[in-house]
Amino acid sequence: MGIEQNLLDIAWQALEESIITYRGIPVGTVAARDPEVESLNYDQCFIRDFVSAALVFLIRGKTEIVQHFLVQTLKLQIKERQLDFLEPGRGLMPASFKVVHEDSDQRLIGDFGDHAIGRVTPVDSCLWWIFLLRAYVQATREYSLAHRPDFQKGIRLILELCLVARFDLYPTLLVPDGACMIDRRMGIDGHPLEIQSLFYTALRAASELLLDNEENADINLAVQNRLRPLAEHIREHYWLDLDCLNVIYRFKGEEYGAEAINEFNIYSDSIPYDQLSRWLPEEGGYLAGNLGPSQLDCRFFSLGNLMAIMSSLTSEEQSQKIMNVVEHRWDDLIGKMPMKICFPALKDRDWQMLTGCDPKNRPWSYHNGGNWPVLMWMLAAAAIKTNREELARQAVEIAAKRLYQDKWAEYYDGKNGRLIGKEARKYQTWTISGFLLAYELLENPGYASLVNFE
Ligand code: GLC
Repeated sequence: MGIEQNLLDIAWQALEESIITYRGIPVGTVAARDPEVESLNYDQCFIRDFVSAALVFLIRGKTEIVQHFLVQTLKLQIKERQLDFLEPGRGLMPASFKVVHEDSDQRLIGDFGDHAIGRVTPVDSCLWWIFLLRAYVQATREYSLAHRPDFQKGIRLILELCLVARFDLYPTLLVPDGACMIDRRMGIDGHPLEIQSLFYTALRAASELLLDNEENADINLAVQNRLRPLAEHIREHYWLDLDCLNVIYRFKGEEYGAEAINEFNIYSDSIPYDQLSRWLPEEGGYLAGNLGPSQLDCRFFSLGNLMAIMSSLTSEEQSQKIMNVVEHRWDDLIGKMPMKICFPALKDRDWQMLTGCDPKNRPWSYHNGGNWPVLMWMLAAAAIKTNREELARQAVEIAAKRLYQDKWAEYYDGKNGRLIGKEARKYQTWTISGFLLAYELLENPGYASLVNFE
């Protein structure tokens, strides 16, 4: 790939400078090191942000920091049922943590969303944690860490939290708005794709990591019982291509009983047909953003679609069709900076109603249609999985032209991602690591086994 070694060296150095130590040991990376703005919580280590950095460290043989991260974040996981029921649920992992200095000692404090803007629940953290543990084991072959009793218990608690009996009727996970990378209100409450893809990935990782013993018997069975219905539900009901669109377009509503074809009672007036029938390439398709009663969110969410390819949540044919959408809608989804977080943006009354008039999430900005360099590594992994590396290579080369000059901005704005994000942090760690990781994966596709599932 035409990327200068100098740029890679600078990125690596910036990544090393973002490392946080705890009692003298490296344990994570800060979210950003922007000297020009107040840090708020960007000086903390976010679980989801650290994943791409961790993968780069694993690839470059710096496995120690990843091990410490896994051990320390496991200690932060909520282990006991709280009697007042006011604390977060058992099994939950924090969105982020910080090192607090006390006299001559240090302590780690987790933020379970109780300090976050909008008090959002980090549902994705525990799912990313299992994903990373599996990657660690793949890279080091050190099964003993995952097999430790405290790790086995940690995995069980996460799964118990996800698999607990609930009010819901679907095999998917029901979550509040802002429960993942998009951690502000964006109209993604219910069964958002990002969480479902991560959930499926975590179930697959857990089934590799959980020992086959009596203690795990129930949870192992529950995992196996969930995988297939979850995949079938997503492949069938979230899938959108021109054929599906035709079917939905002619759906009848108000069907009662088990024979209903329009199971979710989707009213065709709620689907943006005109725009979608022009946007969807003939040979393309993708997973919708959300599904619920009379609700099919037709926005394209990159993380959920790419992760679905990586974990084989989508069939091979569907995965190819998703990559076709990326190829044929290049300007919309890659544009001047890979990659669009979701497309299209919410506008006007939708923006008012679904974001609560959030000024940071104005159309084509931040989560609402901004471009996020971190997504590049998932594009690379999905491209390797589908033998479409050339697409990802081109994307990484586009990014390489700007990232350093733009001081590793957190996100980009505008329909094609031409502008540096209005409130984007500079020296954002997962921008740096996302770029490095995408490069490493494309140069050595063998590393994709750390993140992809057969
Ligand atoms: C923003 C992002 C979130 C990320 C955090 C730290 O809140 O939406 O996904 O984890 O910044 O970078």
